[in-house]
Amino acid sequence: MCGIVGYIGSNQAAPIILDGLSKLEYRGYDSAGMAVFDGEKINAKKAVGRLKILENLTHGGETMKGTAGVGHTRWATHGAPSDANSHPHLNAKGTIAVVHNGIIENYIPLKKKMISKGYEFVSETDTEVLAHLLDYYYKGNPLEAISKVLHRVEGSYALGIMFSEYPDEIYAARKDSPLIVGQNEEGCFIASDVPAILKYTRSVYYVDNQEIVQLKREGMKFFSVDEEELTKEAVTIDWDADAAEKAGYEHFMLKEMYEQPKTVTDTISPRIKDNDIVIDELKMTDEELKAIKRIHIVACGSAYHAGVTGKYVIESLARIPVEVDFASEFRYRDPILGDDCMVIVISQSGETADSLAALRDSKAKGYKVLGIVNVVGSSIAREADSVMYTWAGPEIAVATTKAYSAQLAALYLLAMKLAKANNRVSEDRFQQLLVDLRKLPEQIELLLGQKEKIQHFANRYVGAKDIFFIGRGIDYAISLEGSLKLKEISYVHSEAYAAGELKHGTISLIEDGTLVVAVSTQPNLYQKTISNIVEVKARGAFIMAVTSVENQAIEKASDYVVYIPQTDPLFTNSLAIIPLQLFGYYVAVGKGCDVDKPRNLAKSVTVE
Ligand code: M6R
Repeated sequence: MCGIVGYIGSNQAAPIILDGLSKLEYRGYDSAGMAVFDGEKINAKKAVGRLKILENLTHGGETMKGTAGVGHTRWATHGAPSDANSHPHLNAKGTIAVVHNGIIENYIPLKKKMISKGYEFVSETDTEVLAHLLDYYYKGNPLEAISKVLHRVEGSYALGIMFSEYPDEIYAARKDSPLIVGQNEEGCFIASDVPAILKYTRSVYYVDNQEIVQLKREGMKFFSVDEEELTKEAVTIDWDADAAEKAGYEHFMLKEMYEQPKTVTDTISPRIKDNDIVIDELKMTDEELKAIKRIHIVACGSAYHAGVTGKYVIESLARIPVEVDFASEFRYRDPILGDDCMVIVISQSGETADSLAALRDSKAKGYKVLGIVNVVGSSIAREADSVMYTWAGPEIAVATTKAYSAQLAALYLLAMKLAKANNRVSEDRFQQLLVDLRKLPEQIELLLGQKEKIQHFANRYVGAKDIFFIGRGIDYAISLEGSLKLKEISYVHSEAYAAGELKHGTISLIEDGTLVVAVSTQPNLYQKTISNIVEVKARGAFIMAVTSVENQAIEKASDYVVYIPQTDPLFTNSLAIIPLQLFGYYVAVGKGCDVDKPRNLAKSVTVE
């Protein structure tokens, strides 16, 4: 996720900006840049790679003299990591510089419009459109220009902006991307997050949605997007530096779980237009989509589990047969693919060795590959024929949470798109699915609110030896992920079983007090799963059920029930996973495990 730092004051800006950006490195980035006003003009420097490279390039900021500037670490979204795509972006005259975190969703029509007015673009980014729009609307009043631009753009943004005609001011603005400003006796600061400025001030203001801030050496003024002045209260930060990196959360994993509502929104909302699903990145017409008669999903670990859910959703909605393979198996089993088949490789990192090999193998055999990838510019993103990005931002914890949720969201969109292209879904059902899809972020938020309750329950299982997860159909898919979440971070042995399959052997492992987590969110299977619950309960199991609100009948058969809000049965995994993530997390915390860096695991598995 991009990081922003800005400074205006009586000290040199560049060293402060570099120092602030270094405190935002945890957010992940692939390039960095800054712009400083030197008394005459705005100087900008950019460097792909580690921040150290920008530091060396500017001798720790010493070669960029000036007391006002903005800086940025970029996590590539629109366009691969490169100097041209790095921020700051400037207008052609070099008199306006902007750094941005977020996504300008309507940048394509805006870009076309600006090109028609004679503006030339030098990058592939959505952000550059802001620099040119600011130029277009700037008639000597920065606040007015910013306000006009913000009325034109859709999407999310945290911005740092400077105008060379106003060397004693810098500006900040925000909508749906984090941004704070702070002040001490010597100047004012902009930052994406507290750690960047904690060394300089503990008194900060959280910039609210659609607010603009004018920062000067001696203080700040806040404005609404309509240029009305606002009064705001400062907040005193009492976290230590380590807690501040995690925004006050104990672990990155917990922070990332809490980012899931935003992740799902970011993945879904740019692709819903005029009550339809538009996935331009597929680069396929409806006719071409219609021609797909078989799908092979290939992935590893949690991405594979997302693929298993994808199979149920695509088959149910679009009636296209889907096979899901572990990439490590797919690449050696000489799978039978046909000309009418599409291969989908799902990967957070885009660098997983087996998934990449499966992609190359499929392409070598002449098949089209769609990548569902989180890291822009990663190997899978570069080599796939088309890429559908999951906009989860960088994930730091080894155990994936938000990227997995984004993968589910991307697969729902794809399934709906395929269903529509194949005339497999009525317009009424499609519209209802859109409604349910849009509701998911707030429903996830609601479930995250049950953290204490789940923590309390999880504390009883820190000494558990084995925990089983069962479910049928799509609930089996989520059981796989729930079980992996638990075992990878808590080291408690766990298995996921299709609920009806347990009695064919594994049920012999159930002893008095063994915890069985039963997921039951599919109305047509409620009774069937209750029967399986009864079977294991009769052997002494303790039952935690995760089910839909209307399935209260499950209470009689279970010992502890977590309800998920009402949604389409095809989307329940996005909700059921939340209590399961929280459960795994709190068992691991209770055991004192290194939650963010579990033993023997790497975030990106680049070996076979
Ligand atoms: O980066 P990828 O999505 O390709 O990674 C695949 C797996 O290695 C990954 O999902 C792994 O299973 C996670 N540790 C699960 O939390």
